Amino acid sequence: MKTHLKEQIFTLKKEKNAVILAHYYAPAEAQEVADYVGDSFYLAKIAKKSAADMIVFCGVSFMGESAKILNPDKKVLMPDLRADCAMAHMVAKGKIEEMRKKYEDLAVVCYINSTAELKCQSDVCVTSSNAIKIVKALPNKNIFFIPDRNLGRYVASQVPEKNIIINDGCCPIHATITKEQLLEQKEQHPNAPILIHPECEPELLELSDFIGSTAELIDYVASSPLDEFIICTEDGVDYQLVTDNPCKKFFYPNPRPCCADMKLNTLENILSVLEKEDREVFVDETVAKKAWKPLDRMLELGR
Ligand code: 13P
Ligand code: SF4
Repeated sequence: MKTHLKEQIFTLKKEKNAVILAHYYAPAEAQEVADYVGDSFYLAKIAKKSAADMIVFCGVSFMGESAKILNPDKKVLMPDLRADCAMAHMVAKGKIEEMRKKYEDLAVVCYINSTAELKCQSDVCVTSSNAIKIVKALPNKNIFFIPDRNLGRYVASQVPEKNIIINDGCCPIHATITKEQLLEQKEQHPNAPILIHPECEPELLELSDFIGSTAELIDYVASSPLDEFIICTEDGVDYQLVTDNPCKKFFYPNPRPCCADMKLNTLENILSVLEKEDREVFVDETVAKKAWKPLDRMLELGR
C-alpha cells in the first residue's frame, strides 16, 4: 500500500547520499526502509563510522543528539523532532554536583538515554548492552548511575564490588509493566521462556529467564531451539523477531508495551524530512564538545 512512499524514499536517499538508521522500537515500516536497524549501542557505532553526508535517525531525541555529537560536520535529521524519551530528562538539577561533593572518586555513569546536558556532566556513557562491562572496567569504587534506576539496580546486582548509587528515573513504558501482566502470559504459555529488558522493575527481572538489550533479546531467540517466547519489552522488536523467525511465536504483556514517541517515525515523516531537510538536530557546540567525551569513552570501553 505504501510502496510508492518507499520508492520515493529509496530514490531520495541515494540522490542525497543519506543513510537511514532505525531503532528496533521504530515502526516496522521505518525498519523496512532503514539501512541499519539495531539497539542503541549498535546505532551509535554505525553513526560514528558512517560515510554518508546525511543521517536520518528513526529513534528518539537522545539518539539523534548522540549521532550529531559523534558527527558534528554531518547533517543529522529526525523524521519527527517531537520524538523524545521521558527518562532522558529524569535527573534532578544539582544532583550530580551534590554527589561529586559527597564522593571524591565518583564516576558518573550515564545511560545513553539522557539529554546532551546530562552527558556533558558525566564521565562515561553506557547502553543496556555494555553497562555491566563498562562499570566493571572503571577504576572508581563509587558510581552514580543516571538516569535509570532499574538498569542501575540490575548493574549493581551484577557488579557487587562497586558502590553504585542509583538515581530515581525510569522508563514510563518498561517500568509500568506489572508482575501480574507477566504472570498472566506465563500461565497461558508455560513453556515459553521470559526474555526481558533491564529497564523493567527488579521483581519482573527475577521472574525472567534472560535479561538483555533489544539486540541481545533478538539474538537469544535466533539461537534458541525453542519455538515460543514471552517478550517483555517495547513491541517494536516484534518486526525483527517475526522476520528472522517466521515459525516461532512471540507473546507480550497485555496491553503490549508501546513507546508512542518511537512510533512517530512513520514513512510519511521519513519522506518529508528527506525532501525538505527541515528537521535537523542541533546541539550547542560547547555542550557537544563536552558530551563527546563520555560517548567516545563508551565506544572505547564497550569494544
Ligand atoms: P536498547 O539499549 O536495547 O537499544 O534500549 C534502548 C531503549 O530505549 C530501551 O527502552
Ligand atoms: Fe525512552 Fe522508554 Fe521509549 Fe526507550 S521505551 S525511548 S526508554 S520512553
